[in-house]
Amino acid sequence: MSILTERRSIRKYDPTIKISKDEMIQILKLATRAPSSTNMQPWRFFIVESLAAKDKLKTVLYGNLTQLETSSAMICVFADLKKHLLAEKILNQAYEANLMDLETKTRRLNHMMNNVGSQPLDFIEKWGLVDGGLVSLQLMLAAKEFGYDTCPIGGFNRDKLAEALEIDSERYKPVMIISIGKRAEEGSRTLRLDPTDVATWL
Ligand SMILES: Cc1cc2nc3c(=O)[nH]c(=O)nc-3n(C[C@H](O)[C@H](O)[C@H](O)COP(=O)(O)O)c2cc1C
Repeated sequence: MSILTERRSIRKYDPTIKISKDEMIQILKLATRAPSSTNMQPWRFFIVESLAAKDKLKTVLYGNLTQLETSSAMICVFADLKKHLLAEKILNQAYEANLMDLETKTRRLNHMMNNVGSQPLDFIEKWGLVDGGLVSLQLMLAAKEFGYDTCPIGGFNRDKLAEALEIDSERYKPVMIISIGKRAEEGSRTLRLDPTDVATWL
């Protein structure tokens, strides 16, 4: 069976298991292979693992306390409205690895800084949410590769999350929270509609 069919939302974890920073970085490395618009990778992860940080997060959660209290971490996935600030780094990486010539790098960087940097914020946020959704699923599947389970969480006050974590709420817009840890329950089996219920051939 593949991790695609094995993944299910797990809400209760073994609270004694902590995921080390090194391992979390490996999980994120796999997750961030996800595609993103013009490869600008606008996702940002705030990894809430200390008790103090979890207490701050608790103030904006609607329910979802079992995940908060038993998980190794609650990964808050945000879209960065200032994604263009990392454009130069991203394009330099490609240029230095001989994946892009200098002319292309310069053209794309100018485009990012001049055009994308001045796009309406709701447009940037919309694409950030699309890219953030893709990386979130890939993160949940990457976690399974490493023997962990997850639960996507939308039950929180979207307008107050950044403030609760004391990060810039104008710059970072929440995508979702993902609890992660070693499972302590089987999780509920869920069903899906048949593809013919949700697909239309034109
Ligand atoms: C965007 C999103 C928000 C969700 N929010 C919550 C949540 O706040 N609490 C929770 O327990 N599960 C939450 N879920 C999990 C869904 O209930 C779950 O994915 C769905 O029932 C299918 O079950 P499965 O993930 O086990 O396949 C959320 C899922 C998504 C994709």
